[in-house]
Formats: sequence, structure tokens, C-alpha cells
Amino acid sequence: MKKLETRQDIEHLVNSFYDKVVHDETIGFFFNDVAKVNWDNHLPKMYAFWESVLFGQMTYKGNPMGAHFPINEVHAMEKQHFERWLELWISTIEEEFTGENADMAVYKAQNIAKLMAFKMELARRL
Ligand code: HEM
Repeated sequence: MKKLETRQDIEHLVNSFYDKVVHDETIGFFFNDVAKVNWDNHLPKMYAFWESVLFGQMTYKGNPMGAHFPINEVHAMEKQHFERWLELWISTIEEEFTGENADMAVYKAQNIAKLMAFKMELARRL
């Protein structure tokens, strides 16, 4: 097990995570069918996002919440989807990484997912 400490580690983690996501029965369709993700665009954004969150390098300039509202409008992003997202994220981290940043990557994702789930539900009620 190694520490999560370089940009290369982040790229590896994010790539391994999305390898699981695209094949996942519960949430894969959001990426493959709803958003029809352009991976050449999306992956570098995610590397920058996690680099900013974990290393404080402000390379990500985007709106992580805002990006999800249009997806939520096409198909409701619900509790079970966030649970599955987290399950895949946490298992990917735990397979290869340990230490403070690995713990932080779990903790931050849990908080963001919780807030995102709340905002998506609220948006559906308005
Ligand atoms: C059920 C849960 C989730 C689903 C289905 C989902 C799906 C997506 C999709 C389809 C995109 C857009 C990709 C594109 O059009 O190129 C996206 C972007 C993004 N997601 Fe998620 N997401 C989920 C949860 C999360 C969580 C918990 C986080 C953060 C911890 C997160 C962080 C981001 C970021 C940073 C972007 C890029 C936004 C930008 O354009 O700058 N997502 N997500």
C-alpha cells in the first residue's frame, strides 16, 4: 500500500475509479448514456479537482455542483446512486492507497456526495 501523494497517484486513482464506474449497473448509465461523457475532457478535470481538494493546488476551475443539475434533470440522481458512487470511490482508494490523503479523499467525497444528494433532491422539488 502506498500513500496518495503525487499527481500521478491521483491520475491513477481517478482512472481506476472510472474503469469501475463505466461498467457499473447502478450508475454507469449516467456517464455512458445520460451525459455521454467526453473522457478526454472529463478526466483532466477530475485530476485537477482532486489535486485541488487534496493538495490545495488550485488547478481546478469549475463548478462541481452545477455540472450535475442538467444530469439530474434528465434522470434523477438519487440516494442509491450516491451510495454506489461512494462505494466505488472508497473501494478504489482502499485497494491501493493508505494514509492521511487517502482518508481525506474518502472524507471529502462523503461530504460532497451528501451535499450534492441534498441539492439534487431539492432541485427536483422546485
Ligand atoms: C451519483 C453520483 C454521481 C454521478 C452519476 C456523477 C456524474 C457526473 C457526470 C455525468 C459528469 C459530467 C461529465 C461530462 O459531462 O463531461 C460529472 C462531472 C463532475 N463530477 Fe460527478 N457525479 C456524481 C457524483 C460526484 C461526486 C460525489 C463528486 C465529488 C466528490 C463529483 C465530482 C464531479 C466533478 C468535479 C465534475 C466535473 C465538473 C466540471 O465540469 O467542472 N461527482 N459527474
